[in-house]
Amino acid sequence: MTEPAKVQRHYDEMAEIYDRRYTEGTGQSYHRHISDQVIGWLPPGGCLLDIGCGTGLFVERYLERGGHGIGLDISPKMIERARDRAPLANWTVGTGESLPFRDNTFDAVSSLLAFSYFKDPEGMLAEVFRVLRPGGRVALCTLGRNFLTAGLPAIHTLGELARVRQVGMGNFGEHYYTDAEMESLFTGAQFVDVRVKRCSFAHLNLARPVYHLARRIEPIVEKRLPYLAYNICATGRKPHP
Ligand SMILES: C[S@@+](CC[C@H](N)C(=O)[O-])C[C@H]1O[C@@H](n2cnc3c(N)ncnc32)[C@H](O)[C@@H]1O
Repeated sequence: MTEPAKVQRHYDEMAEIYDRRYTEGTGQSYHRHISDQVIGWLPPGGCLLDIGCGTGLFVERYLERGGHGIGLDISPKMIERARDRAPLANWTVGTGESLPFRDNTFDAVSSLLAFSYFKDPEGMLAEVFRVLRPGGRVALCTLGRNFLTAGLPAIHTLGELARVRQVGMGNFGEHYYTDAEMESLFTGAQFVDVRVKRCSFAHLNLARPVYHLARRIEPIVEKRLPYLAYNICATGRKPHP
C-alpha cells in the first residue's frame, strides 16, 4: 500500500475519534491555539481553501468570521464529518499535491497538521501558488523538528506494530521541518513576505495538570525559547505580476 493510501485508511478509521479529540478539553484548547496563529495571518471574509481539512474545524472558524470556502481532504470519512459540521461550506475529497481548481481562485489557503504527510511539499506549494489570486496568502501549521519531536516517527512506528489505536499512530513517512527548510520551501515556491514562527508548547498528550502548566509558560517559550515549541507555522503572499 502506498503511504498516501495508508494515511487515507488511517484517517477513515479515526474520523470519529479524531473529531472528539480536538473538540473537547485539552485537544480543543491546543487546536484553537494553533488555528489562532494561522487565522491571524489570513485575510478575513475571503474565499478560503483548507488543504487536509480533516473534520472541518478550521473552515468552520473561517466561516464564522464572515468568509466562505472549501475544505479538501484525502479521507472520505473525515470529509463526511466535515460536511455534518458545516453543511453550508463546500467539501471535496482529493490530494493536496494536485488541486482540482482553476488558477487564481482563492484569497486564502490554509493547512493545519497535514503538511508533514505530503510526499511532494514543493509540488503542493506550487499548486497552492497556482490557485491563489495575486495578493492572496497561504498560512500553514504542522509539527516542527526539534529534539522533542525527532523521535516521534519511531514511536509512531512502534505504536503501529503494537496495534495502538490512536490518531497519528503509524509509519507514514512523515517529515517534520526546521525553520530554514520551511523558509526555503516557501521562497522556492515564489512566495514573498514569508514568515516562519514556532508555536505551541502545551501538547494535548500531556496529563491535564502538566498541560495547564505548559499552557501558562507557552507565551514565554514561544517568544524566548522557540526551539522548544512543537509546531511550526509559516505564511507567504503570492505577489502581483
Ligand atoms: C492531523 S489531521 C488534521 C486535520 C485538520 N486540518 C485539523 O486541523 O483538524 C491530518 C489530515 O490531513 C489529511 N491528509 C493527509 N495527507 C493528505 C494529502 N496528501 N492530501 C489531502 N489531505 C491529506 C488526512 O486525511 C487528515 O484528515
